[in-house]
Amino acid sequence: MKSAIITGITGQDGSYLAELLLSKGYKVYGFNRRTSTPNTQRIEHLKDKIEVIYGDVTDSYSIYRALKKAEPSEFYNLAAQSFVGSSWDLPESTCEIDGLGVVKALEAIKNCNPAIKFYQASTSELYGKVREVPQNENTPFHPRSPYGFAKMMGYWATVNYRESYNMFAVNGILFNHESPRRGIEFVTRKITYGVARIKLGLDKAITLGNLDAKRDWGFAPEYVDAMWRMLQHKQPEDFVIASGHTHSVRDFVIAAFEAIGVKDYEKYVKTDARFMRPAEVQELVGDASKAEKLLGWKPKTGFKELVKIMVDSDVKLISEGGKV
Ligand code: NAP
Ligand code: GDD
Repeated sequence: MKSAIITGITGQDGSYLAELLLSKGYKVYGFNRRTSTPNTQRIEHLKDKIEVIYGDVTDSYSIYRALKKAEPSEFYNLAAQSFVGSSWDLPESTCEIDGLGVVKALEAIKNCNPAIKFYQASTSELYGKVREVPQNENTPFHPRSPYGFAKMMGYWATVNYRESYNMFAVNGILFNHESPRRGIEFVTRKITYGVARIKLGLDKAITLGNLDAKRDWGFAPEYVDAMWRMLQHKQPEDFVIASGHTHSVRDFVIAAFEAIGVKDYEKYVKTDARFMRPAEVQELVGDASKAEKLLGWKPKTGFKELVKIMVDSDVKLISEGGKV
């Protein structure tokens, strides 16, 4: 039986990846840090099927212990301080987790068993102030936030361990991907949750930042499938994963209100400088043709369908008294 460690298993992607690997017959170990209150709601339904190992990617010994216990054939490093907005307030810890944490994981694997295949959750935020449109595996990077430059370290550490030690270590350069499990502070979920509350008469408006920023948004369960495919590919290579379409935050707002039958969205949207960023990534759009050619991966869920899935899910969640 194949086994895998997923760091960041309590997050959006970690929970979907755990489901995918279980469906493929893997023994799944989740690497989960200690928190003062339980934060395992996204994997509650999997608790009898996976094994959770306590640890933290900033703590090398906990990574070694996890490797010894799980003896995995694959290691998916999804752990991160993943919210760009907070990274300006937390630049050091973001670098500790998103940069140095990757080095610690790679070093532990190199010393324990360099045959373990390693996936690094890299990001379209590396492109930042974009040098070309669309962005592909050869587009130069220009990160625009502490999150971006911390992830840059993780990206290059992964490339270097592959080239120096012949390890199967790959970067998935994933563009934004969303779902009903998306964290509430990210703009898509903030919008769909806010729109659902407005529909149910619980709020009068949502307050956002830059409505003109453009992102390439896809559906998270499809993106974790790409991660798995990268580790099954015959050789270790980096891949861009994206929908190939870009939309503004305003487009997302309009589609979310359309999903509840509201056309005059302006009445319900306010902006506030608190949600603006010191530096912005204005436009991202990815070219995933390499992944389509070599991994047979293609996005399936379109933009409007994605927005509707998220709005409907939030209306249901709130109606049933569920919590985020
Ligand atoms: P997420 O929901 O924020 O999940 C992040 C996970 O990392 C959580 O399980 C979190 O645990 C864990 N974590 C944070 N610090 C840790 C530490 N020091 N040690 C161990 N675990 C730690 O993020 P996501 O959207 O699933 O994204 C997964 C990965 O893909 C992240 O690395 C992100 O940067 C990257 N990425 C995401 C996207 C996207 O659009 N979603 C695109 C490109 C790349 P807690 O639950 O305890 O906080
Ligand atoms: N969060 C947030 N809240 N963003 C807002 C708001 C708001 O109220 N108003 C406008 N925005 C804009 C942000 O300025 C940004 O341009 C865009 O919406 C998307 O913001 P987020 O949803 O926070 O995501 P992100 O693109 O910064 O980062 C996500 O995608 C990256 C991949 O490109 C995260 O998942 C990262 O971890 C991931 O690497």
